[in-house]
Amino acid sequence: MYSLFFRHVLTRFDPEFAHHAAMAVIRVVGARPFSWAVRAITAPTPEQQVHALGLTFPSAFGVAAGFDKNAVGVRGLDALGFGHVEIGTVTAIPQDGNPKPRLFRLVPDRAVINRMGFNNEGADAAARRLRKLRRHAPRAVIGVNIGKSRVVEVEDAVADYVASASKLAPLADYLAVNVSSPNTPGLRGLQAVETLAPLLRAVREAAGSTPLLVKIAPDLPDDEIEAIARLAVDEGLAGIIAHNTTIARDGLRTDAAVVEAAGAGGLSGAPLKERSLEVLAVVKAAVPADFCVIAVGGVETAEDVQRRLDAGATLVQGYTAFLYQGPLWARQINRGLRAITPGAGRARPEASAGA
Ligand code: FNR
Repeated sequence: MYSLFFRHVLTRFDPEFAHHAAMAVIRVVGARPFSWAVRAITAPTPEQQVHALGLTFPSAFGVAAGFDKNAVGVRGLDALGFGHVEIGTVTAIPQDGNPKPRLFRLVPDRAVINRMGFNNEGADAAARRLRKLRRHAPRAVIGVNIGKSRVVEVEDAVADYVASASKLAPLADYLAVNVSSPNTPGLRGLQAVETLAPLLRAVREAAGSTPLLVKIAPDLPDDEIEAIARLAVDEGLAGIIAHNTTIARDGLRTDAAVVEAAGAGGLSGAPLKERSLEVLAVVKAAVPADFCVIAVGGVETAEDVQRRLDAGATLVQGYTAFLYQGPLWARQINRGLRAITPGAGRARPEASAGA
């Protein structure tokens, strides 16, 4: 049903417009009494809870950063059955992002390319919304993903991240440092261990008792991924999010001219499926068994989620397939996890212990 709607209606609209329209619906879904009615058919069962980062996640599956940049849809996403919502990326200074168009569908690949460039209303606006949200106590865990403001030079990045962390950590269930988006010049350079170490140390101090994670890129060589994973452990972080979009364009089915016309940006969706499992394996091999690892990239089905949990992921996130699968995607995943095997949808005991 949704796939027909997607093919015949949604693809006629600009993808960013379609996203805003979807977000408007999600906001309505989040308002009572709609949220109660929707939750009755979408809520994960209590057996699907995962304990990690000192928190209780209603399910292992959550929505990745970038979908709700300004924390406007958390209640709706919660009602739709996501176990956590990672808002952001939020920057200390509000910014418009890159010129439009900046989001492109690659339908044959069930993928998108984006160069949004951290369009967001800034840390103060996010803090205001989070404060309000806290009064409604959504079930979903709320992560806050922070990034560098575009106008700030890379050399001054630490102070910029710290400014966001100080404002947002007290309102976040966990905080994620994003050094891996390809659409902010110089950002991914911050992943070099010698620059990442002081950044993580400073943000961790600013974050206080809020669990801090770092989100990495899939394009790093495996030895660098390993080094960052070890650094995260050594610096006392609570976990790693693996991973962001890729700048690679290998093996796509979409017409090469269409891919070329889309231009620069991060590719996400089904083409990331295998690399995400490889990166997960590299990270898992470098960290203690109970270190929280959030797997993200190319997840479409409950089987994809279960494969990542079986490979040691504590939690799993998705974004792009939500655009292709529609509003009941989280429900399908949660139900699918319950159907796969008894006890499915639960991380392995050592992974679920969390940090
Ligand atoms: C993203 N992603 C992203 N990640 C991040 O840390 N901060 C951000 O602001 C964004 N913005 C964003 C916008 C759009 C349009 C997309 C499609 C993606 C990356 C996202 O969180 C995730 O890591 C990747 O998309 C891989 O997961 P999927 O989409 O393959 O499930």
